[in-house]
Amino acid sequence: MIEIRRAKIEDSILLHSWWNDPELMKSVGYDEGLGIEIDSVVESIKSKNIYLIWLNNTPIGELNHKDISSGVMQFGIKIIPDFQSKGYGYMILIQFFKYLRILGAKKFVLDVLKNNEKAIKLYKRLGFEQTEERVNGWVDPSGVARDYLIMEKENGT
Ligand SMILES: CC(C)(COP(=O)(O)OP(=O)(O)OC[C@H]1O[C@@H](n2cnc3c(N)ncnc32)[C@H](O)[C@@H]1OP(=O)(O)O)[C@@H](O)C(=O)NCCC(=O)NCCS
Repeated sequence: MIEIRRAKIEDSILLHSWWNDPELMKSVGYDEGLGIEIDSVVESIKSKNIYLIWLNNTPIGELNHKDISSGVMQFGIKIIPDFQSKGYGYMILIQFFKYLRILGAKKFVLDVLKNNEKAIKLYKRLGFEQTEERVNGWVDPSGVARDYLIMEKENGT
């Protein structure tokens, strides 16, 4: 059974290991991991909307969301490598969108690196459309300019 639970301070050690894991973070542009300190992880848990994804009481990933403007919600998802490509991302996002709609989301937006094919394929399957491409739009920590896409989905589609 999949459950989405708000991250607690005691989850900071786990999130710290994930956010510093090159294998997990390379597809979001951090080839060496975030290089984040535990205190900053604790601060993020306190100040941001971060959730852990549990599969039968095993944590398999995280979700986050942020209000961009009234009714427009940005979100992020990460599933740890052992649990990717098993259909969980799709199932979890359907569940998460229901929750975000209850919080008032009318539109979902995200950014994704152009070379993150797995994520783009999943978002298209969920009804997202590309609205923008930002060529060299973000410089990664090693100084490489990366292309990314903005994708959007209206609430009901
Ligand atoms: C991108 C990400 C969230 C996708 O989640 P996921 O759980 O791997 O995605 P899904 O399994 O739902 O779909 C992906 C693939 O599984 C396949 N699939 C779907 N249901 C399946 C099932 N029941 N059994 C086996 N495979 C399945 C899909 O066809 C899809 O095929 P693909 O590998 O050719 O793309 C996840 O891979 C991830 O966290 N990656 C690292 C971080 C990241 O890139 N985050 C997004 C930043 S924008």
